[in-house]
Amino acid sequence: VLKTSENELLCRVEGDAAMGSMLARYWLPVGRSSELIADGPPRRLKLLGRRLVAFRDSGGQLGVMNENCPHRGASLALARNEHCALQCLYHGWRIDRTGTILETPSEPEDSTFKTKIRHIAYPVHESAGMVWTYLGPPEREPAPPAFEWTELPEEQVFLIKVRTRANWVQCLEGVIDSAHLMFLHSDFTRPDWARQAEAKDTGRAATEERVLGELNKARYEDYARLYAETTPYGFRYAAVRQPADGPRITKYVRTSHFVAPFFGFFPAPPGNGFMQAFVPIDDYNTWFYWVQYRVDGQPITPEMRRAALEFSGFVPGVDVDEDGHNIRTWDNMWLQDRGAMTRKETFSGISGINNEDFAIQESMGPLFDRSTEHLGTSDVAVIRMRKLMLASVRAWLDRGEEPLGLAEPFPLPRIRAGEGIIDQEQPWQTVGDWLDESATAIGAR
Ligand code: FES
Ligand SMILES: [Fe+2]
Repeated sequence: VLKTSENELLCRVEGDAAMGSMLARYWLPVGRSSELIADGPPRRLKLLGRRLVAFRDSGGQLGVMNENCPHRGASLALARNEHCALQCLYHGWRIDRTGTILETPSEPEDSTFKTKIRHIAYPVHESAGMVWTYLGPPEREPAPPAFEWTELPEEQVFLIKVRTRANWVQCLEGVIDSAHLMFLHSDFTRPDWARQAEAKDTGRAATEERVLGELNKARYEDYARLYAETTPYGFRYAAVRQPADGPRITKYVRTSHFVAPFFGFFPAPPGNGFMQAFVPIDDYNTWFYWVQYRVDGQPITPEMRRAALEFSGFVPGVDVDEDGHNIRTWDNMWLQDRGAMTRKETFSGISGINNEDFAIQESMGPLFDRSTEHLGTSDVAVIRMRKLMLASVRAWLDRGEEPLGLAEPFPLPRIRAGEGIIDQEQPWQTVGDWLDESATAIGAR
């Protein structure tokens, strides 16, 4: 069990919080490429409690810098974006994406004032439709993010981005908790509940197989045994269950990966990959990213996009507004439908699989004090993540050690989650193994 002080150390990112400064040593997702249009509106951006602005200049180049104008602090999100610079509305200063002050038109013509000032701007990286930035010390900048999906053409990648009103660790703990699949997500994972949900909403069950893959091959009455193994980037772990109708000498295995500091990879249907990321906005809010990518060379079709949005419960204009804010909140009980629950049409009463997660994470309060928890054997992966991240932030704080995953970088494009039914004797590590060894695992991609 975590002490309150450990909980604070693990979760808080704002101001001079140690975890916030450590997370600044990693590349952080900023948003989808499509949110930033050349000469379009600059976007306000808050990461680790820091107020930033992101924009794409006339030449298509991206900039991320501090939100407040270096002159007297007006928000540069209000600025004009033209002629390869932001022009502050207040007194017309023009600042380019590197932080160079191009013009100070409110100063005398012969002023050299502008050459003495620089605005604080950060490195930006863009690949596969995602924009990233690095907020840490320039001399420690790590190699740009490289996962399997960031190397793919944009049409093979689909990104969903929604704000959660809860601390980032609370959200992250949802994706590395295989045990909740058979409870919270019963409508999708348990044939008895899925049938009821299908009667109510055919679209939902129709997407079930495509999105959840082979999870229905597990005996849902059985509890999951969880195993975890530390790796250079975090850990990989497995949930092992009895197969629904396989012989007793086999087992159904789902392997997933935690990649520091906030990425989760988990099994996807054949030909696909899934990743989730939980990027701290501040202590109490998190950007949730859902990444679906095709590893079979096929594009993500409009039908797949629609299915993913409906399945997660994040249809723009219906469930979330254009800024990614969910209409389901603590205030309206996440629109839980108690009538449908009583009629046994749904287990959770909450529409959309990711909305189920959001409701649970937000229901704990914006930053839950873990000193009051009672952890069980199904919580081993969650415990492992907390231990690793706490050890990392302490070693970084006390001895200046490199944060987890940065000291000995692992070729992240090689990792894959997987699922399959294997012999009882076979080690779980053979399912969804490293990319170049995965071919032998049954049911793995
Ligand atoms: S505050 Fe931006 S130009 Fe004066
Ligand atoms: Fe979940």
